[in-house]
Amino acid sequence: MVRELSFLFPILIVVGLMQLQAFVVVGEPQVPCYFIFGDSLVDSGNNNELVTAAKANYKPYGIDFPQGVSGRFTNGRTMADIIGQLLGFPNFIPPYATVTDHEISTGVNYGSGSAGIREESGSHLGDRISLDRQLLNHKTTISRLSVLQSNKTFTQEYLKRCIYLSNIGSNDYINNYLIPNIYPTSNTYTSDRYATVLIQQYSQQLKTLYNLGARKIAVFGLGQIGCAPAEIAMFGTGGKPCVESINDAVKLFNERLKALVDELNKDYSDARFTFINLTSISAPQGDVAILPDVPCCQVREDGQCLPNSRPCPIRVLSVFYDGFHPSEIANTVVAIRSYIAISPMDASPYDISHLARL
Ligand SMILES: *[C@@H]1O[C@H](CO)[C@@H](O)[C@H](O)[C@H]1NC(C)=O
Ligand SMILES: *[C@@H]1O[C@H](CO)[C@@H](O)[C@H](O)[C@H]1NC(C)=O
Repeated sequence: MVRELSFLFPILIVVGLMQLQAFVVVGEPQVPCYFIFGDSLVDSGNNNELVTAAKANYKPYGIDFPQGVSGRFTNGRTMADIIGQLLGFPNFIPPYATVTDHEISTGVNYGSGSAGIREESGSHLGDRISLDRQLLNHKTTISRLSVLQSNKTFTQEYLKRCIYLSNIGSNDYINNYLIPNIYPTSNTYTSDRYATVLIQQYSQQLKTLYNLGARKIAVFGLGQIGCAPAEIAMFGTGGKPCVESINDAVKLFNERLKALVDELNKDYSDARFTFINLTSISAPQGDVAILPDVPCCQVREDGQCLPNSRPCPIRVLSVFYDGFHPSEIANTVVAIRSYIAISPMDASPYDISHLARL
């Protein structure tokens, strides 16, 4: 019980911040547009019509979301949704799958559950929109926008002012490297080499995004995948709180990703890239102990919520909603700390509020 109560303190701070937020953000968003790339951590419905097991358009997903079930892999808003609100957008950025011409000028969400940096990641679950395909979709959006704005120079200048968020790479581990009987990557590469290979590909993809006009890009590192309840259930922890070998592999990726961001900032001096450190952001503050990472919903064998099952009643006490995905309260903490860094480790060189103003 003491542990539970201590977890309430950061929640109270968060709730306070969110209320403050309601007064601070009036009028125009801080940037004209916001584009979102990534996987199920940010997907807002792009997988709904795909043939895949990786979808979340059923209850109890969305139980705390104003519009109910939407395809978001959590009980409420994703971290990308909340960052959008912090940036002052009155509406959630629509998914590419259903976005209308009328809506595209404020941004598009390309995120797709089970998608990765690598094309094949997540393929055993079915269809998904890999990062390469998300970039192709962005190209299509830009063509649509150019037609609507009917002034190429204007559109180019416009795209430079947007915030671009990229949160991808978890499935290159969860739905690739960590499933050796389906994917050969762990036989081909050591975890060190795999991190390098992934970063090389991601580097090309971020350069493509730059070439499509992006100049303010927030790149999210990976969370501690070895602490996800589904990975703990699958691999065991040998008495430790998390699967250390997975967290060690992910750490190699994150270190190289941060180095890549530094390099891109040097090579492209008219752009601003920033690295968001999810390890730092999800670390408990001070003496506050967090609850053991038990999923809030009842999970199927694949770690997703059991359709129509009843989730835990007090969802603000759960870090994880299902076996892999953070709950809305955890997403809120991530969004707030990436927007306004609490520790200098959270975001470097800029937090997102800074990035918006640059
Ligand atoms: C196109 O947009 C640019 C940049 O906003 C502006 O300077 C220019 O006057 C516009 N051209 C036309 C034909 O409206
Ligand atoms: C992220 O933050 C953690 C905890 O503060 C730190 O140990 C780690 O080095 C950081 N990772 C990167 C890539 O900077």
